[in-house]
Amino acid sequence: MRDVLVSEHVIEAGYNLCGIGACLSLIKRNIAGKILIMLKNLEYRGYDSAGIAVITPENTLDLRKGVGKIDDLKNKLHFDQMVGFVGIGHTRWATHGGVTEENAHPHTDCDGRIVVVHNGIIENYLEIRKELETRGHKFRSDTDTEIVPHLIEEFIKRGNDFYEAFKNAVKKLKGAYALAVVSTYEPNKILFARVFSPLVIGLGTDEYYIASDIPAFLEWTNKVIILEDGDIGYVSQGGVLIENVFLNRRVHRDVTTIPWTKEMAKKGGFPHFMLKEIFEQPQSVSRTILMARKQIDRFLDYLEKAEEVYIVAAGTSYYASLHGQYAFAKYGLRSRAVVASEFIEEVGGFIGNKDLVIGVSQSGETADTLLALRYAKKKGAKVVAITNVIGSAITRISDYSIIMGAGPEIGVAATKTFTAQVAVLNYALIKWAEMHGYDMDDVKRVFLNNIGEKISNVLEKANSLAKKLSEWMVPKSNAYYLGRGLGLPIALEGALKMKEIAYIHAEGYPAGESKHGPIALIEKDFPVISIVLNDHLQEKMLIAIEEMKSRGAYIISVCEEGMKKIQEKSDFIFEIPSGFSNILAPLVYIIPLQLLAYYTAVKRGCDPDKPRNLAKSVTVE
Ligand code: F6R
Repeated sequence: MRDVLVSEHVIEAGYNLCGIGACLSLIKRNIAGKILIMLKNLEYRGYDSAGIAVITPENTLDLRKGVGKIDDLKNKLHFDQMVGFVGIGHTRWATHGGVTEENAHPHTDCDGRIVVVHNGIIENYLEIRKELETRGHKFRSDTDTEIVPHLIEEFIKRGNDFYEAFKNAVKKLKGAYALAVVSTYEPNKILFARVFSPLVIGLGTDEYYIASDIPAFLEWTNKVIILEDGDIGYVSQGGVLIENVFLNRRVHRDVTTIPWTKEMAKKGGFPHFMLKEIFEQPQSVSRTILMARKQIDRFLDYLEKAEEVYIVAAGTSYYASLHGQYAFAKYGLRSRAVVASEFIEEVGGFIGNKDLVIGVSQSGETADTLLALRYAKKKGAKVVAITNVIGSAITRISDYSIIMGAGPEIGVAATKTFTAQVAVLNYALIKWAEMHGYDMDDVKRVFLNNIGEKISNVLEKANSLAKKLSEWMVPKSNAYYLGRGLGLPIALEGALKMKEIAYIHAEGYPAGESKHGPIALIEKDFPVISIVLNDHLQEKMLIAIEEMKSRGAYIISVCEEGMKKIQEKSDFIFEIPSGFSNILAPLVYIIPLQLLAYYTAVKRGCDPDKPRNLAKSVTVE
């Protein structure tokens, strides 16, 4: 198996949008309905077509697929009438070939005996396809995926059994992929392979599930095997067999019990996952703090021993990291937050074996962050991960990982994972500062005892205000989000949310810097959202607000109650209870900004759960 082809740029595999859901019953129970549910549970990833294939009790293939939404396809193709004890399903987001029924997955070999679903991109599919065509294979689609069933068929014709043929086929693939395969040759097996595209196995009662993501089967089991890159194998009556093509041997993978419930992966009565996840923050932050208690000591050890500390991340996770940098600085702990894709150029030359690099990534699969961390490791630095996903790629390359307790985040835009990341960084800081003689009692009292209640209060007050203000925001094309000090990462994250889901050009800026250029754009009713903490920077924020207001800007302030001068100058106010103008600020100040982005997006007719051009885990460089 040694000669599996993996390109240098496997990360170019594309966004992990497609969804795989496969199921094998060990007691001859019909699994078609379960595959349908798995596909519904994966809908959040975005898709343009879908399909299901089962091996019937008569050992024939029943394959139904088409373009459109699963519910419509269900009515048209009657997925619910399919019968089989083993099968695979797929939601496709077109990459190779247009959005057509032929290109939808699953795909079969010439004889319709082998059927495959795939996530990722096979880079060398064209040359393989040409070779197979010269051997007489007939292709029905334009996809890269279709070469896989034909390759397996080819090796079976040469005398391989089903699994051997699959292994030989996988050896020829170059790129990144997750695959699930069933066949009438051996109808009681699902074969799988993972090379740089996520794939997990769920261990149910008399059933196995294989899926792109845990929420697919969470309603039946939380016992999971997280496959690693290069893993290939099958599930059958005999259990789970896993080999690794890079190690060229059989491997053991632990069964992990995921502390998530099925309710966590459902909308729970909210119109969108994003709104549900915003409203979950009282619990997700409290749970993260509880979980961090057990994990923080080793992190402190690494912090203590480090000569230099870097915090590396992308997008929202970068803004949580920037908060970390500002918060750490307040207590004399020197660190530097670096955008992952700039890491090597910006600080790569300084990294050494006495340094600590903290990687922050909710998905744990972000290519930019992984590359930066791999580089840091190569230079001898210690690497600690903060992530929401047990067993994700970041945990495998780090010396130590802290798992947050945010629960599954389905909405593409990060909300509760942002506050969970801030909570972990704050917790580490509180403990570190105490070790270094700082009195952290006031901050600790709120953080450890009633942060959940405080977030709930802010949610309750801000919800109707955000809804109201969103009406005014709907026709706007631009907005500034200004902050200083600990308020700056909040402003940057607030602007990112508005940009991502409402498609309004929103720029986060250091308030003091706004007079050095951005102010040129201000005209009547230009939205300026100012994040004002009740600290020594308040007067300076007031100056920035006055500069903007005198040029016609409409001032929306997120500030503490009782901040009279700021409130007098503002046109719209989100009040935050006092006691938060310190390292805890993002946990509450971000709430009105998340809600404002959400309601504005919905009123502009955008789907906040699936913003265009974005994906939950960005596995491209
Ligand atoms: C923002 C968002 C992205 C991610 C970024 C990093 O709402 O979702 O900006 O924050 O792609 O992702 P992770 O945290 O998975 O590394």
